[in-house]
Amino acid sequence: MKQRTILITGCSTGIGRCVAEGLEARGYRVFATARKEEDVEALQEKGLESLRLDLDDSDSIHAAVDEVLARTGGRIYALFNNAGYGQPGAVEDLRREVLRAQFETNLFGVLELTNRIIPLMRAQGQGRIIQNSSLLGLAAMPYRGAYNASKFALEGLSDTLRLELTGSGIHVSLIEPGPIKSRFRANAHAAYKRNIDPEHSAHRGRYANLERRLAKQGPAAPFTLPPEAVLKKVIHALESPRPKIRYYVTVPTHFIGAIRRVLPYRTLDRVLAWISGEGKR
Ligand SMILES: NC(=O)c1ccc[n+]([C@@H]2O[C@H](COP(=O)([O-])OP(=O)(O)OC[C@H]3O[C@@H](n4cnc5c(N)ncnc54)[C@H](OP(=O)(O)O)[C@@H]3O)[C@@H](O)[C@H]2O)c1
Repeated sequence: MKQRTILITGCSTGIGRCVAEGLEARGYRVFATARKEEDVEALQEKGLESLRLDLDDSDSIHAAVDEVLARTGGRIYALFNNAGYGQPGAVEDLRREVLRAQFETNLFGVLELTNRIIPLMRAQGQGRIIQNSSLLGLAAMPYRGAYNASKFALEGLSDTLRLELTGSGIHVSLIEPGPIKSRFRANAHAAYKRNIDPEHSAHRGRYANLERRLAKQGPAAPFTLPPEAVLKKVIHALESPRPKIRYYVTVPTHFIGAIRRVLPYRTLDRVLAWISGEGKR
């Protein structure tokens, strides 16, 4: 079998880094991309084939794909759309440009990259597109509106794409992680500080609780798993002849994935508010 090639976004840290290293060790040819030059250099020093790719920048998306194709003779087996971030804040405090920035990274950049790769996969008659969505792509939680919206949108786009790719040999899978140990919370905290003004918000009082959670070191949520838990599902999505449409990762995803199908909406709201730590106090 020829060596399989995969392009992964957001490999500077966290899940992307873990999956890149895990697949490299498994024999894949991994293009581990990152948006900052210093991270690309650090990945290269670790022995990974790394390129710059910033989802907010179309030129960098196309330059990275061109380079991968030049190096592989036009072949690419899989794409792991991993990169993303969470913008915390109450929905009524989200300025238009803040929501737009969340979508630029978590959806529009992903779409542009994916649409660049699909014709190549079509020509090969095979391919795997793996989307790193989230438990928060399945259920809403207070103060996660921007992130919820971007991941719900990713879910919708991916479901449609899968239907449209029927018979093409290209499989689309969604990974639905709950809490995973990474820099996600630290990066979300930075986005909160950058874009939310708690002093002039009707949610002022509640933000103190959110800030405490964002600033907490170590696992903030019960049932947090290491990123290797995602790697395991990515391997299945790459290697199974019949990859799953959705891969649940962590107990909270299984729990919320189940109750959202059976509970009435109001009861579900109460459970989700309680789980998020934003229930009535
Ligand atoms: N950790 C969790 O609990 C959890 C749960 C569910 C879903 N997820 C999803 O898992 C994915 C990976 O997150 P993580 O947990 O590994 O968090 P992380 O440690 O914060 O890593 C996020 C990665 O995305 C990159 N990134 C952010 N904006 C980018 C852009 N515009 N272009 C290219 N790369 C960009 C980051 O690069 P920089 O280092 O340059 O910022 C970093 O490499 C995300 O899509 C996230 O939504 C995470």
